[in-house]
Amino acid sequence: MTPVRITELVVGGFRNLQGVRLTPDARANVLLGANGQGKTSILEAIDYAASLRSFRGATRAQLVGHEADAAQVLLRVEGAGLSHEYRVKLTRTTRDILLDGKRPERAVEYFGGAACVVFQPGDLELVLGGPDVRRRLLDRILVRVVDGYGEALKSYAKALRARNMLLRERHPDLRAVQAYDFPLARFGAAVVRARESVVGELVRAAQAALGEIMKSSEIISVAYRAKAPGDQVAYAAMLASAVHNDLARRTTQIGPHADDLTLTWSGRPARVVASQGQTRSLALALRLAELHVIEGRTKTTPALLLDDVSSELDRGRIERLFAMVTRLGAQVWVTTTDPAIASLLPRAKRFEVTDGKVAPAPPSSLSP
Ligand SMILES: Nc1ncnc2c1ncn2[C@@H]1O[C@H](COP(=O)(O)OP(=O)(O)OP(=O)(O)O)[C@@H](O)[C@H]1O
Ligand SMILES: [Mg+2]
Repeated sequence: MTPVRITELVVGGFRNLQGVRLTPDARANVLLGANGQGKTSILEAIDYAASLRSFRGATRAQLVGHEADAAQVLLRVEGAGLSHEYRVKLTRTTRDILLDGKRPERAVEYFGGAACVVFQPGDLELVLGGPDVRRRLLDRILVRVVDGYGEALKSYAKALRARNMLLRERHPDLRAVQAYDFPLARFGAAVVRARESVVGELVRAAQAALGEIMKSSEIISVAYRAKAPGDQVAYAAMLASAVHNDLARRTTQIGPHADDLTLTWSGRPARVVASQGQTRSLALALRLAELHVIEGRTKTTPALLLDDVSSELDRGRIERLFAMVTRLGAQVWVTTTDPAIASLLPRAKRFEVTDGKVAPAPPSSLSP
């Protein structure tokens, strides 16, 4: 397994960050600082450069610093002996990306080598939130492990938008609506097949992580129940037979945009029965499963970005989590307000984040 190692990070004009330039440790990095200084923004900048999405769901306009014209992130990443430079420039309305100084022709080139997995307080939504959050988890994994998935998803969304627009017209033209059945069935079936292919692995990995971190033997189960089949012909037939329903509801009702990944905890819906601590552990287990699946399929271990773990997990779980990432060899980034958490990773490089700036911090006093 080759770990993804971020070897250089330069950020400016992104949220409150200015003139950030840091050379991280190959294994462990801790960002320390009081509330509101820019710790999460650093992880967000890293993950944005790697995935072109904000894990806080922010738009470009929200990411560009209030006082800045543009946000820029440079990420140098090493894996399998190769070094790549990812560069993103955002203005409030535009985005430019460069991989090794060149505009990538296909998104998949860009997404190749800089996989990150993020665990952050908002991840409780994986358990408590709506199906879209869990679909995003699947999609985040699949764009990295299934060639063409990102394109299929995009083409599906485009056809779906067009079809739904027609369905919302006052007098929808049935033939015009059905002209979209072919692309919907083609790309939708591909999305369904890819999702179905990964769920089994995801569950097993989440279960294992839960056992290791939580010392819990509770049985969780995760099921992806696609309303439309993964076979294109059967999918098209289902769309055809449902069209009158779609006309009545004025929207396309079946397809991967409407599917859920259901989570159960010892046989009951997790959202309803899991305690707060269990909810957090389950969310973390899903993120570790994301890491595991990407690692298994791509033979590279994503970098793990852990935002504010001390607000999410008790000390025992944090210790077991850190032991696990050390064993995996993943590069880990931890943000915290609490120096005691930093001392649980005694060999980590420490950085102090203050008012959007980052400076090296002295090593933990507990380090050997
Ligand atoms: N577009 C923006 N331009 C400038 N500042 C911003 C922008 N968006 C957010 N901020 C500010 O950036 C600061 C840093 O936010 P961030 O979430 O990174 O802090 P943090 O160090 O993670 O804090 P906490 O410990 O509370 O989680 C906050 O004061 C926030 O209000
Ligand atoms: Mg934060």
